[in-house]
Amino acid sequence: MVCFLEDRAINLSTETQPPSVLKIWGETQLNGQVTISGAKNSALAIMAGTLLCADECRLRNIPSLVDINHMGDVLNSLGLKLNRNGDTLEINAQEITTSKPPYELVSRLRASFFVIGPLLARLGVARVPLPGGCAIGARPVDLHVRGLEAMGAKVRIEHGIVYADIPGSNNRLQGAEIYLDYPSVGATETILMAATLAEGETRIENAAREPEVVDLANFCIAMGAKIQGAGTNTITISGVKSLHSVDYPIIPDRIEAGTFLVAGAITHSEISLSPVVPEHLTPVIAKLRAMGVKIIADAPNCLSLIPGTLHGTDIETLPYPGFPTDMQAQLMALLALSEGDSVITETVFENRLRHVAEFKRMGADIRLKGQQAIIRGVSMLTGAPVVATDLRASAALVVAGLAAKGITTIQGLHHLDRGYDNLEDKLRGLGAKLQRVSIEETDLPAEELIEAEKR
Ligand code: UD1
Repeated sequence: MVCFLEDRAINLSTETQPPSVLKIWGETQLNGQVTISGAKNSALAIMAGTLLCADECRLRNIPSLVDINHMGDVLNSLGLKLNRNGDTLEINAQEITTSKPPYELVSRLRASFFVIGPLLARLGVARVPLPGGCAIGARPVDLHVRGLEAMGAKVRIEHGIVYADIPGSNNRLQGAEIYLDYPSVGATETILMAATLAEGETRIENAAREPEVVDLANFCIAMGAKIQGAGTNTITISGVKSLHSVDYPIIPDRIEAGTFLVAGAITHSEISLSPVVPEHLTPVIAKLRAMGVKIIADAPNCLSLIPGTLHGTDIETLPYPGFPTDMQAQLMALLALSEGDSVITETVFENRLRHVAEFKRMGADIRLKGQQAIIRGVSMLTGAPVVATDLRASAALVVAGLAAKGITTIQGLHHLDRGYDNLEDKLRGLGAKLQRVSIEETDLPAEELIEAEKR
């Protein structure tokens, strides 16, 4: 299937393509400047948020990703009109033709469940299939559902579909005080979007504080929503009757930026990144500095990295402003090559340490104990065939491969394509040697493949 985006359309059918792997020639030195794309997680939530508005919305700085295409397909299935031109995406939600996106589309990415809040707020009814678990955990949606129920929705789950309705004649949710048992990003976003069109005031306590939540709130505010406190753990939303059209730029992707910082540190290279919002990277920068890497904010929206001798450190993943779970695998790659011992504790997702086995194939000394990885730094990783187990693990294997001695080949590239905009081109621009090849070609030397590509 070829998805809706005509510009840079991506062929999503994997069955007909030869299996491809990413071949990386290691021990590379990187150098130069890299451009950071718009934030995937902001863009996905904001795309869902366009359902709230009957006028056309224009989103800028949209990254080129399979997940974005999938979200576009979900919105298309609801009757929305989408038009993409480069990194600009226009979405017109004047007519919503159905309240039920099909399971085949929703099951492709969890963020598509986020349409439930705005659909319910706009139409008074939503029928959204449960997205199911994913590579990193079961990922329930109970907090989303409880939030909508607190605002007066009647919700039942039958045959894998969440049926949500607003009872009564005025078709509006009611403002409510909602305490989240856990500061879930998705649940905060669902409730925030639903509350923008509710009657009265909604207060979310123990709300997620992630920059992507703030971006979504700013997008809604730009459409005329009344929201205070986004970025703190209490968000207050005073419902309005309708929202208006907007032209909105998405924030830079802090996880992509963090991944490039790790790529620079692990290859002992001086690189710089822009645009970035350095405050969004505070926990990542703090850990990199603790490990011996110098990071300088030498120009507005720009970060430069000066490598140093790497020392181990301990990391615990937590909701923002704690250390992001989405950077855990990349930091593990770096700690594997740092002097001394380190412990990583994953507290956000229950199944997000599967990359340990892959790093071990590359010579890392890591032991798993429940949700903890105990890492003894080694002086060298060696290239090996490895499998990407989830999105961020795929990027972590790429950075490990850049540093390793010899050739690393990574399978499971559909994970990488979900969330990194042109990662390979961007790395090649910095001097990395890497090439996507069919499995049969994995034995060809770098020069031959690069020549073949030129032809
Ligand atoms: C978002 C990000 C994801 C990131 C994660 C944590 C998007 C599209 N994805 O995912 O990249 O890793 O935040 O920063 O923005 N939970 C429940 N019940 C719920 C909802 C969540 O128990 O109703 C649990 C989850 O299972 C998980 C934890 O809460 O253990 C955190 O999940 P959450 O913050 O909701 O993450 P997502 O919004 O799914």
